[in-house]
Order: sequence, then C-alpha cells, then structure tokens
Amino acid sequence: MHIKALLTEHIEAAFEALNLTGAAMVQAASRPEFGDYQANGVMAAAKRAQRNPREVAAQIIEHLHNDNKFSKMVAAMDVAGPGFINLTLAAEFVAPALSTGVVSSTEPLVVVVDYSAPNLAKEMHVGHLRTTIIGDCVVRVLEAQGHKVIRQNHVGDWGTQFGMLLTYLSDSGNDSEELADLENFYRAAKQRFDADDDFRERSRQAVVALQSGDPGALHQWQRFIDISMSHCQQIYDRLDITLSAADIMGESAYNDDLAGVISTLEDTNLLQQSEGAACVFLDQFKNKDGEIQPVIVRKSDGGYLYATTDLAAVAHREKRLGADRVLYFVDARQSLHFKQIFAVAKAAGFASERVQLEHLPFGTMLGKDGKPFKTRQGGIIKLAELLDEAERRAAALVQAKNPDIATVELQKLAQVIGLGAVKYADLSKNRTSDYVFDWDQMLSFDGNTAPYLQYAYSRIRSLFDRAAVTPEQLPTETVAVDEPERRLAVCIAGFNDVLNQVADEGFPHYLCAYLYELATRFTSFYEQCPILQSADEQRERRLVLASSTGKTLATGLDLLGIGVVDRM
Ligand code: ARG
Repeated sequence: MHIKALLTEHIEAAFEALNLTGAAMVQAASRPEFGDYQANGVMAAAKRAQRNPREVAAQIIEHLHNDNKFSKMVAAMDVAGPGFINLTLAAEFVAPALSTGVVSSTEPLVVVVDYSAPNLAKEMHVGHLRTTIIGDCVVRVLEAQGHKVIRQNHVGDWGTQFGMLLTYLSDSGNDSEELADLENFYRAAKQRFDADDDFRERSRQAVVALQSGDPGALHQWQRFIDISMSHCQQIYDRLDITLSAADIMGESAYNDDLAGVISTLEDTNLLQQSEGAACVFLDQFKNKDGEIQPVIVRKSDGGYLYATTDLAAVAHREKRLGADRVLYFVDARQSLHFKQIFAVAKAAGFASERVQLEHLPFGTMLGKDGKPFKTRQGGIIKLAELLDEAERRAAALVQAKNPDIATVELQKLAQVIGLGAVKYADLSKNRTSDYVFDWDQMLSFDGNTAPYLQYAYSRIRSLFDRAAVTPEQLPTETVAVDEPERRLAVCIAGFNDVLNQVADEGFPHYLCAYLYELATRFTSFYEQCPILQSADEQRERRLVLASSTGKTLATGLDLLGIGVVDRM
C-alpha cells in the first residue's frame, strides 16, 4: 500500500475538477494534532488561480467528501492554517497494510550500484565505512522491491603504488606474514621508496612490467590483490555487507577499454591536447575566473587516469550490464569528478540520454572533537579494530544489565548490538553532512539508536512469550479501535512510502526516522492499551498490532543490514 500515492491521486483529481493546477504535495503530518497526512499544495494552486486558499481548500474537501473511494480512506478532513488540508485516515482503510510487508515495484529496473570500493594498496579504513554501510542498505531496499541490482565494487587495484608494493614484497622474500597488516606493509614500502634510489628505480620498472602484461609481475600483483581483498571480505562478512568476490569489478578490469575511450572521444571531437595531455573541455565546467576546468583522460607520458577508467565503467554499466540507473556512493569530495564524468559520458555517448547516472555523496566521519576521525596518535583507524571496540563496548553494556548472562549469548548480543549501533549511527544521519562518531550516543538505549529499536523488538517478542501465543496463530489483520491503536496502524501502513523514498533518493535516514517513529508509537500504544490483561477480542486485536509492528521493525532493520535478538 502506497498511501501517499493514493491520497495524491484523489486530491489531484479534485484539483482538476476545480480547475486548479499543481501538485497536492502530500506528506506525513508533522505533528499528531495535524492528523496523519497533510496536503500542502493547495496554497500554491489557489495562488496560481488567484483564489482564496482557505476557500479553495474547503471546496476540495467538499469535493473529496463526494468521492466515494476517498471518503472510505479518510475518517476526517480539515482546513488548517493558511490552507493546508489535514487528513486523518480510517482504521478500516489501513487494516490490510498490517500484513502487506514490502510491496514489489510495478516498474522493476536494472540498477547498478557502485559502493565500498576501497583502495587495495592499503588496509580498509574508516573512510570506507560510510559508502559500504549506506550503499548496502540502498541495495537491500532496491532488491526487496524487486529491482535487479548489480553490485559493482570498483576497488582501487591499479596504479603506480603497486610497483612499489610488489618490489617490497619480492625484496622481503615474498613473506606473506608481513601482509597480515597491510597498513604497516604499505608504510614500510613507502619508507623504502622515499629513502632508497635503487628501490625507487626498481619500483618504476615493476610498474612498466605490470602495465606491459609481464606474466611474473601480473602473478605477484594478483597475489597481493587476493590477500588485500580477503581482508576486505572479512570486514564485509563481519558487518553483514552483501558484497562478495563476484561483485569486484576493479579499476584494472577496464585496462583494455581505455584506448577505446580515447578514440571515442577523438571521434566525437571532444578531445583536445593541452600541454601534452589529452583533455576534454566542456563549457559547463568553468572556474570562477571563467576558465574551463578540463577533464584529463591521458597524461603526457601516455598514462590513463581515474577519470578515464570511470568513463569506461559508465559504458560497461549501461551497454553490457543494461543499467537503467547507476548509483555511485562516493565521498562528497569527488562531486566535481562525477559531474564531469557524467557530462562527458553523455556528450561522447558512453551513456545514452535514457540512463540515470546519480552520484550519492556523503560527508566525512568526524571524531567527537569535530576533526576527521583518527586514532589518539593521529593515525588511520582500522575498521577491524573499530568493530572490535564496538563489540567490547556492547558486551560491557549487556553484562551490566544481565550479570548472569552465559558467555555464548553475551557474545551473540555484543555482536548484534555493537555492530548494529555502528551501522545505525551512520545510516540514521543525513548522509550529505559530516557526521560525528560518538560511542556513547550510538550505544544508548534511548533515542534514535539501534539498541532502542532492537530493544523495542525484543519487548514484542517477550510479550508473545508471556501471551503464550505465536504470531502465526493470530489473524494477519485487524481494524484498530482505540486511537493509539489506529495511530500505530497508520504508521505501519506508511512503510512502503518510506521504502520508495529510500529507493528513489538513496537516503537511509528516512527509514531510520520511520522505524524510530514506529517504535515510539508502539511505546505509547503499549502504555495506553493493556494487552495481556484485556479480554478476548481486544486482546487479539492488540496482539495482531504488536505482531505487525514486530515484523515491520525486523524487516526495516534487516533492510538497514541490522539484526534483531529475541531477548536483550
Ligand atoms: N577507490 C575510490 C576511493 O577510494 C572510490 C571509487 C568510487 N567509484 C568510482 N567509480 N569512482 O576513493
């Protein structure tokens, strides 16, 4: 059930009947006293028609009263303020939504999602956490709606650093022990590179060997990549990220396409030489002095760049993978890069006009001091260590609440709560802003946090234990009677509206805010509507509502990539 779409359809039909133009602008009400939904579009429509907005709103309401279908959907309609229409939904109307779950899209698309994409020369670090967590959530939502999602892990697996790394690897006798910590390995190689001329020269030769396809060099490179990738996969598995080896389509995968990118740019008259480099100049990329910022696609030494690879990737995604949409979950600092890539891709025909190329940027992760998140010594925080700490902190919390808990259960809870908290903290913020990583906030059992939602879920489970029924023994639907019941049912019915929003705009925080609202409404329902003490019909009805809330919470958390537990 898509409530917003349904309400919109009827209200806009009323607009038309009254010779009004414009959108109904239906939204969930900002406050309970405004009803469940509000239509904000009346003022603008009335203004365009040079009519009085409140009068127009009253006419629309009258029209909607005569719309048979619509009057079954709503229990009350009122004009408010300068011409808003507040709508209160009928309990009968939202009842079927209690058993709906996720609705499949009527227009399934092929969506390519580019996310995570760590640089394999180094250990995966906190800088890759946001893209990985946010991208994976949007992937889950799209898949649940029946879209065909193709994950593309555009890992950084090519470039001059690999010459240095492979030379260091063969000097250290191919000792893979050292590769257990890629961060140290990289640092050691870089130190040698900076200090030792002979090493530097051999590193350059290694790059040449690698680029010319020398089998020995390629073999070493592949070995290094495999080890580095297995470190990433451990993190993915631990965080329950849905990426696997099959999704890797790194920069190196496009090597054979790069010469073709240049010749296509030449054929479409987009290529210009500038100081020996091959560039594309597009009018829309002027800096503040009016000079066009070129997109460099081949350096004067013949080397290709990050941009060249991305142009090849766009072509691959549309032409070979058949993408309708391509989503890029990449740091906001790469915004100009993607604007340029998308514009050049469309101009040169690497992408048709049909395909939607979307950069979904996110801000930087900051420490509590407001500076980029680093270790106390100022070093990069390794993801593995961060996740260890999350589990440690969650275990301490759980143990403080249940001192007698068995070790196995403690570990399980620490994992679900600790990792869930890290993911939720990220997902629940608007991704475009920087966000402050704060252990105390994310592990709190109050407020918009994962533990709060997980706790709400476990409370529902224990309610069923005490009621000595299982949700399966109950009817799937019920018609709310009391107001807290109705408000809870209306919220459950809004689930698919929110999923659509996440799928369209790639903002998981809408889903988080929704689940938080749902848990909050459940709490007031639970406080105001006794369940176990109430008599047959009422008891059953309330249990059905509780069960549907539990299912929606679990499904919603699952779409965020977060687990639930029956007891906490
Ligand atoms: N490896 C890059 C980085 O760490 C991100 C790649 C994003 N995807 C892309 N198609 N450029 O910054």
